Amino acid sequence: MKFKITVLPGDGIGPEVIEQAIDVIKLVGEKYDHEFEMQEALIGGCAIDAHGVPLPEQTLEMCKNSDAVLLGAVGGFKWDTLPGHIRPEAGLLGIRAGLGLYANLRPAIIYSALKDASPLRPDIVKDGIDIMVVRELTGGMYFGDRGRLQTENMGEAAYDTEQYSVLEVERIARLAFETAMKRNKKLMSVDKANVLESSRLWREVVIKLSAEYPEVELSHMYVDNAAMQLVRNPMQFDVIVTTNMFGDILSDEASMITGSIGMLPSASLGKGTLGLYEPIHGSAPDIAGQNKANPIATILSVSMMMKYSFGLDDVAKEIEDAVVNVLNKGYRTGDIASEGTKVVGTKEMGQLIKDEITGAAK
Ligand code: IPM
Ligand code: MG
Repeated sequence: MKFKITVLPGDGIGPEVIEQAIDVIKLVGEKYDHEFEMQEALIGGCAIDAHGVPLPEQTLEMCKNSDAVLLGAVGGFKWDTLPGHIRPEAGLLGIRAGLGLYANLRPAIIYSALKDASPLRPDIVKDGIDIMVVRELTGGMYFGDRGRLQTENMGEAAYDTEQYSVLEVERIARLAFETAMKRNKKLMSVDKANVLESSRLWREVVIKLSAEYPEVELSHMYVDNAAMQLVRNPMQFDVIVTTNMFGDILSDEASMITGSIGMLPSASLGKGTLGLYEPIHGSAPDIAGQNKANPIATILSVSMMMKYSFGLDDVAKEIEDAVVNVLNKGYRTGDIASEGTKVVGTKEMGQLIKDEITGAAK
């Protein structure tokens, strides 16, 4: 089959981890006889430097006309003092909204070779963590009305609005129920319904929709409790569905308890099969260009792309198996290294994974 991929390397370590991921795409294309046509475009700080905006019109157009988008990372010290609407992060929000990607899937998994990396005690982690955070991505406070005003008694003030429509909640909840059906049929909806009206609507809609998924065991948790339960007993969670803001926070927490944020991929999906795939780590400008970054999260993002946008489950599994094999052989990049493991750089890690795929690995 033939697929068109827009590649957005971005800033910091983005280009070097993307380079490894591109190699993997080429390789599985040859091995499985699929044609992956790749075209690169600018987003984030590099786009600001070249065009004055973090998401140039031509980048968005190219993405719209592809089957999937692969993104490295955006941002860096250089652009940190720019006003909000032309910061690199605005490019990220723009592409999510521009492509209608309302659902963000962030798996938090502990690979057995990396069990010791979790900051949680072994008796809490037990046999491992395998949580899927489904975060709403194009609504809520990120996109609500915001502004500044003068108050009568308290001087200058600022506000951001949390607003959700029934339709917005319904479509993300549906995706979460479907995800739960393919896993252990357990769904936890996280909100703040004891305080927020938008959360009360959220909960109503989720409960109503649950009638269509009688096999899924649905529970609800307030976000403060969820943050606490994630470190107290992470094994109780399977699929978590929540708002944009809460999902931003909880997905960072969920990834950290696996101990290896450099390992975790993500998928952003919308109505069709077009998706955006990116590692959940940032652009790490402090180690950029030093061959130190871990390319695994980006390579696993390619695996998610194969599965969710292209329906190529066999290719997805091949990539995942290659990563697991390399880890089992004791190879690590610096961020996940521990005593007795073999530390390698970005390029070497990429090569080891490619060798597994071609069968050249020892
Ligand atoms: C994320 C990031 C972004 C977000 C930032 C960079 C705008 O934290 O993808 O989680 O808040 O969504
Ligand atoms: Mg975040």
